Parts: sequence; C-alpha cells; structure tokens
Amino acid sequence: MDLSQGTPMIAIPGPSILPDAVRAAMARPMPDIYGGPLVDLAFGLLERLPGIARTSGRAFVVASNGHGAWQMAIANTMAPGEKVLALESGRFAVFWGVAAELAGVDVEVLPGDFQTPVDPAALEARLRDDTAKSIKAILVSHVDTSSSVHNDIPALRAAIDAADHPALLMVDCIASLGCDRYEMDEWGVDLTVGASQKGLMCPPGLGFVWAGERAISAMDPDRPRVSYLDWSKRIDPQMFYEIFSGTPPVAHLHALDAALGLIDDEGGLDAVWARHQAHADAVRAAVSAWATPGGLSLNIASPAHRSNAVTTVQTGDIDATELRRRCAEQAGLTLGIGMVTMPDRTFRIGHMGWHNPPMILGTLATVEAALSSMAAPMGSSGIAAASASIGDALNRD
Ligand SMILES: Cc1ncc(COP(=O)(O)O)c(C=O)c1O
Repeated sequence: MDLSQGTPMIAIPGPSILPDAVRAAMARPMPDIYGGPLVDLAFGLLERLPGIARTSGRAFVVASNGHGAWQMAIANTMAPGEKVLALESGRFAVFWGVAAELAGVDVEVLPGDFQTPVDPAALEARLRDDTAKSIKAILVSHVDTSSSVHNDIPALRAAIDAADHPALLMVDCIASLGCDRYEMDEWGVDLTVGASQKGLMCPPGLGFVWAGERAISAMDPDRPRVSYLDWSKRIDPQMFYEIFSGTPPVAHLHALDAALGLIDDEGGLDAVWARHQAHADAVRAAVSAWATPGGLSLNIASPAHRSNAVTTVQTGDIDATELRRRCAEQAGLTLGIGMVTMPDRTFRIGHMGWHNPPMILGTLATVEAALSSMAAPMGSSGIAAASASIGDALNRD
C-alpha cells in the first residue's frame, strides 16, 4: 500500500534538508553586484567563515560543488610532477587524489578499507620511508561519507610530526562541517575543503577552502595556473568581482548568510555539534537494537570512529535496495544508497544539518516499518532504543 502522501523526508547524506529561512533568503531579487549591500554581505561572510573551520587562516569561496573545492585546493598548492599521498578510508580522499592525478600530480594511495579509520601508524611508517621528503601533501577525509568513518585528524597530525615530515595536511570536511567537531588550527591542519550542501544547510553550489600560512605559501607563482581558481587575486582583490573570479553566486551567498545565522541562533557550533551527537546516538542505538547475526549492523565497528553526520548500515542477507524502495515509494522516506563494495547490502542514513527528534525518530520508525514489512530479522525495537537515547539527551543541559 502507498502511504507516501505528505511531506517527503530526505535522509540522504547530502544535499540535506533546507531550512525555511535558507529557502526564503534565496528568493530575493538580484541586487547590484558592483556595490551596496552585496559587497558588505560578501566581505562579512569571508570574515565569518574561518570560524566555521575554527581557523584564523583565509577562507575562499568557489561557485561549485565539493569537487570544485578539491580542484581549488589542488590548483593552488600542487604543480604537475609533485607527489601527494591520499589516505583511503572509503571513497572520497581517493577521488580527491584522482582529481589531482588528472592535473598531473603524482598520487600514491595509502591503502585502507571501508570499515576502519586511517591507521596513524601506517601513515607514520610511510612518511618515515620518504627520506627525500618528496611527499608534498597528504589528502584525507575527516568523515568519509561512503563508509561513515570519522578519521582521527589529531592522531594523523601526530603521526606526521613523529615522522618529522613537512607534508601539508589537507582535510576534506565536506561531510563533517557543522556536524562533527572540527578544529583546523588546534589540530594542525594546513588546508580544509568544505561544501555548502550538508551540515551547512544550503543547496549544493558553494565550495569552500580554508588555507593556513603553509598552504598559502605552497603556491608556486611560476606554475601553470587555473585563472578561475587561482588564489592570488582573491587574496588581494583590486576589484570586488575578483573575490569570486566573476559574478558572485548571489542567491547562495544569501543562503549561507541565513544558515550561519541559524548556527549562531542555536548557540554556535558547540551546540550544533551536540545536537548532531544526540541524533547520531539515536540512529546508532536503533541500528544496534535491530542488529542480528547475518542481518543489520553498523558499518564502523569502533564507536570512537563513527560520524555524527551519516551512518552507513550493513544489511547482511537483507536486500538494501528493496528496503530503500519500500521506504521511498511507499512511505515517502529517501535513504542514501550504499557506496560500500556491495550496494545491495548497505544503505546510509544522513543526519546532517537541519533536523530534530521528530525527523530522526520518524526516519527510524519508517525504516523499522519497512524492515517489518519485509519480515526482516530484527534483534529488538530500534525505535524503543532510539527514543530512550533521545530521552537521555533531553535530560542533558
Ligand atoms: C566527503 C566528501 N567529499 C567530497 C564530496 C564531493 O562533493 P560534491 O559531490 O559536492 O562535488 C562528497 C560528496 O558527497 C563528500 O561526501
């Protein structure tokens, strides 16, 4: 039976649900792009953005998706023939490496898997072997959206320091910003990339790069440059339009302004991270309650390495594609497709950005209903476990 009439719920790991305030902010008429309020808005955003990555470094905004932000990082810090090391823990750092390879960079992958974080000891060993210090940069995802692993960035920084290696530490926070705690300066990160469409609650279309001093000075002025992505003019603009290499993405800037306002209104990033933790705990409680041998389980075994932005669920003998189909077509709930090796045997729940207990518990209850409709084995009620978990959170300060 089709019960899907009503407000659809999208629980994929990005794009996330747009808050009403963000959608309303985008619906404004187009302003003058050479002066007036838009200029103040843009400069104001560039001042506020470093706080989102917890850095005193520079923020750059590129009108693109996350791939464009990757590309901006590559174009400004690497030259063809230079070497970088991409740390595998799912798909995304490896894909970032593929983008660098197409730009002529020599990319090596430190092999990993889809169920465990990057091993700091393996990184340290690889860097110690690099006695010529030829590795210029290290690419890693803070949270890999395919596996839902949460890498321990301070531990990776410590491994680089233990090997006494000068490589730049470059971190993809596209999935984690605004969801999982991230401290760029405190953790010794040289460059961070982000995007608008996940924890930052905007539509896809803005990429962000935050660069510390070492990343900025890695720019070689003599290398071939990509005019649109080049930092030089963006750092020291003579004309306003140079900040965006052309017409600013006006509607997206209004969206970002509204989204950052929501983060402030909630009490800042610490409050936002705490809410994500409470909701992610509820999701994990539900999946753990459903778990059976041969049935559902959390993809990441180690609790310390699970993301608060997305949860990848292994489904064992249960057909994940059929589960997602029932949720979407009969109940109005869209879950994320599996990106782990067997897509029919995994799915993902996005819990990033704008969500509250009715949205999270409604999502979990719908999954439980679909599992029940498939007569899928379940250890116990995920809903009871998730409600208790949310109840505990309601009692916290
Ligand atoms: C961790 C991570 N990095 C990079 C990307 C690529 O971003 P985009 O699809 O916006 O280009 C994604 C997209 O989901 C992601 O989750």
